[in-house]
Amino acid sequence: MADFKRIVILTGAGISAESGIDTFRAAGGLWEQHRIDDVATPEGFARNPDLVLSFYDKRRAALASASPNPAHVALARLEREFAGELLLVTQNVDDLHERGGSFRVLHMHGELQSALCTSCEVRTRWHDTMRNRPPCPVCQARSLRPDIVWFGEMPYEMGRIYSALESCDLFVSIGTSGAVYPAAGFVQEARAAGAYTLDLNLEPSEGSRLFDESRLGPASLLVPAWVDDVLSCAEA
Ligand code: OAD
Repeated sequence: MADFKRIVILTGAGISAESGIDTFRAAGGLWEQHRIDDVATPEGFARNPDLVLSFYDKRRAALASASPNPAHVALARLEREFAGELLLVTQNVDDLHERGGSFRVLHMHGELQSALCTSCEVRTRWHDTMRNRPPCPVCQARSLRPDIVWFGEMPYEMGRIYSALESCDLFVSIGTSGAVYPAAGFVQEARAAGAYTLDLNLEPSEGSRLFDESRLGPASLLVPAWVDDVLSCAEA
């Protein structure tokens, strides 16, 4: 592996699969158990808020029994030891990157442990349930929703992400199917900027053919090995 100076990493549900968090599109995954329209759109929330709040309450509670795996820990090591610029973007709404030791994580699809008030628009750290309609700690309105970017809504921090993609020399996608835009288009942005592109995934994904290189296997093995490569090239 060459000596890279500016790396953008995009992670998806596959990096947390070995921690026991369900992916979306696997057989038996979340989108086979629930209809996207019901639980992951503003219209679904307007139709049946109880269903949506319960869905995210259960997912938030499930986080308590999950632990970061060696892939999360390896990316935290990269953050500590890599001398160049690194942007870690995740589509995941869990906190396993942070619990694995990463401090700078950009959650483009929001976070399970955050509440968004639809009255005052303030985002608050949230570890409890929401289906009992607790008041917003800032404005007291009972109008909290999960701070999750639903289909049809704009992901967070797109300006920062695109500007990092425009100047990166390595783009790495880890454990994502490449089925959901805008994240699925990041590889093309990075390629247009002249970056080398690497896909780390359990199996070939929808977007694999867009990458310069694909490595197949479980994230808990692939990611620590890749981080070793990057750090040893930087030392050499
Ligand atoms: P998907 O469920 O679409 O894809 C998960 C990917 O991880 C697949 O390509 C699997 O092959 C791979 N995978 C599974 N286990 C793995 C392992 N142990 N090691 C490495 N790879 C593994 O999840 P995402 O691509 O993250 O958005 O989904 C993108 C977005 O679609 C989500 O953020 C969510 C969803 O709808 C919203 O809710 C807005």
